[in-house]
Amino acid sequence: MKIIRSIVAMQAEARGIRQAGRRIGFVPTMGCLHEGHLALIRKARELADCVVVSIFVNPTQFGPQEDYTAYPRDLERDACLCSREGVEIVFHPDVAEMYPAGHGSVFVDEKELSAGLCGPFRPGHFRGVLTVVAKLFNIVQPDVAVFGQKDAQQARLVQEMVYDLNFPVQIVVMPTVREPDGLAMSSRNTYLSETERRQASCLYRALCRARELYDAGVRDSASLRAAMLATIAAAPAARVEYIEIVDVDRLKPLDVIAGKALVAICVRIGAARLVDNIVLDPSLCS
Ligand code: PAJ
Repeated sequence: MKIIRSIVAMQAEARGIRQAGRRIGFVPTMGCLHEGHLALIRKARELADCVVVSIFVNPTQFGPQEDYTAYPRDLERDACLCSREGVEIVFHPDVAEMYPAGHGSVFVDEKELSAGLCGPFRPGHFRGVLTVVAKLFNIVQPDVAVFGQKDAQQARLVQEMVYDLNFPVQIVVMPTVREPDGLAMSSRNTYLSETERRQASCLYRALCRARELYDAGVRDSASLRAAMLATIAAAPAARVEYIEIVDVDRLKPLDVIAGKALVAICVRIGAARLVDNIVLDPSLCS
């Protein structure tokens, strides 16, 4: 497995792989890899001949009060995991390589899908994400890129960018990988104390409560939200940032659920800001 730090070297490598007729599968990450990331890597292996994983804690997607400096970093461990999963190349640039002129002056911005959910709470976040993902696509030149449903809004935005800007990349979205108590795996779970960690399963319990009511025929969002808030209230360390029920395509709030709906939740527990979601799909109703 190669670890490449330079953009020019990565582009040359990608050109060589493609010229040899091999498909590149790409998994962009910020490192501190866990089973959620590894599931994406395994999917990329299935869909392509050569897997590239990027490990880059992208400063432009963090707000000034956010955890850019504290974000966990462990390249040695990550490289070990990648190598074990059959990754061919880890792309690990430093900040000066990715942003030689500071934060640059050209961005990929989006106005509609980023207007709700995490958007208002993290101004500039999705602009940072889309810009770095566009840069990474131009550097790695993947045929297929794999993202996680855990960050449903991010995945939807990347799909939209690829569609609107005609990137020749197929986007695949994989289900959320969870801990045994239902907590979605996340690099940020490392911020939780033992007590906080125990309470963090409240996000999943709230989502399950919503599904239970939905399966029993409840369709109005207000009732589902109220039941979810009541579930979260049992975890004293949890502060709800939002609970939203939106359509899966345009991410617009729904008063009444008719088609497929995304139930998305964001809760702060201690130093961690945790997001999770489920999709309610009428075609899967018993
Ligand atoms: P990061 O948080 O490291 O996540 C990298 C990828 O792993 C994302 O597509 C994310 O949705 C997915 N992922 C995280 N936890 C998961 C879980 N429990 N189950 C399944 N997939 C999971 O998301 C980012 O990095 C960055 O914003 C990035 C796209 C790399 C741009 O900087």
